[in-house]
Amino acid sequence: MTHDISLTEQARDVLITNDRGSYTVPTAGLYPYQWNWDSAVAALGFAQFDVERAWVELETLFQGQWADGMVPHILFHKNDPGYFPGPEVWGCEGPISSSGIIQPPIAATMAHLVWQRDPEMGRPRMAALYPKMVKWHSWIMRWRLHRGAVCTTHPWETGRDNAPDWDKTMARMDASDVGEYTRRDTSHVNAEDRPTKYDYDRYITLVQLGRRLNWDQAAMLAQSPFRVADPTMTFTTLRAARDLVKMGAALGEDTQTLEADVARLEAGAATLWNEELGGFDSRDVHSGEWAGCLSNASYLCWFAGVENRAMLTKLRSIMERVAYPVPSNDPDAETFDARRYWRGPTWAIVNMLIGLGLADMGHEEEATDLAKKTAHLIKEHGFAEYFDPATGSAAGGGSFTWTAAVWLAWAGKV
Ligand code: GLC
Repeated sequence: MTHDISLTEQARDVLITNDRGSYTVPTAGLYPYQWNWDSAVAALGFAQFDVERAWVELETLFQGQWADGMVPHILFHKNDPGYFPGPEVWGCEGPISSSGIIQPPIAATMAHLVWQRDPEMGRPRMAALYPKMVKWHSWIMRWRLHRGAVCTTHPWETGRDNAPDWDKTMARMDASDVGEYTRRDTSHVNAEDRPTKYDYDRYITLVQLGRRLNWDQAAMLAQSPFRVADPTMTFTTLRAARDLVKMGAALGEDTQTLEADVARLEAGAATLWNEELGGFDSRDVHSGEWAGCLSNASYLCWFAGVENRAMLTKLRSIMERVAYPVPSNDPDAETFDARRYWRGPTWAIVNMLIGLGLADMGHEEEATDLAKKTAHLIKEHGFAEYFDPATGSAAGGGSFTWTAAVWLAWAGKV
């Protein structure tokens, strides 16, 4: 990194370089399309210096919304053979070529924050976006709930691709019919930092199943072996519902249904409490089994407006024990792997969500501490995709959109 331009300018440059006009790619090469939750974070980043561009980002994302309300995890705006699995593997027919699954629905929360940057200018933009966001939210409530917790139907939906949360469920899956395919991720970045072939076979098997079932949610609900209620989906959906209530009220909309959703999701979040683990955990809906994983998503409770003293104690301890918190897996767990993606590394995006939640719930000290530690990490190691929690060293792709956006909107402000 050069020392003559400020980090803020560098962060803007990352966003501008990854800007493809009306949407932003997470990073050139490795991720050449529009990813759902990356894009929502990009919008918040843009909102720090170009509010107009921030709205465009969100509007483009919702242009990809399917007729039933679903907003896909990837929009394949322009075909790029450097990425696998591309549109021909997914076989989806939305208004924009896309994948057939979702990602954590943080768009509503990010849109709320973008709106606050310039309420007057944003009002007509929000008025147009709001019904689309409510429609996506209703889709999630209709298709993804189990005892009020939100389920994922593919590890990629949670955004935490190879987290140990899915190990037991994946072990029960048969991926022997997956056939031949060529991964592209490992030609862009170090294979040691990426999910294994064992995992990848299962990811692709689930895509093939969805395609065979024509991405019909009722059929997938009946037939998919992968259905896990998880903290990422549950906490982000609960937070989205709360933000939709606030935005709806400001727009003069009736928010009764959304308020009922908040109560249902709160009850659902409580079903993720694993007493033995002493933390929020993932549970397999088919087997009823706990994953037994304390991940960075476990700490998203405050983001969802859920207070928990035991989690606060755990957070304080992890902040002391780990040089660059919050690791995506418990450092004491057997599955911990400091460099392999979501099995150990620290992700600035999740830190920001945790930090925003802590601040909202009055835990200012912890929120500031986490923001400072994240700022230090980015200052030392750049806008990497993710980081080794012990050494801070950069891993995965570089010049990453959401890490730059996190700097602009949160970490760089302390
Ligand atoms: C990986 C991450 C996911 C992210 C995507 C694009 O799949 O696990 O969270 O959205 O890359 O950055």
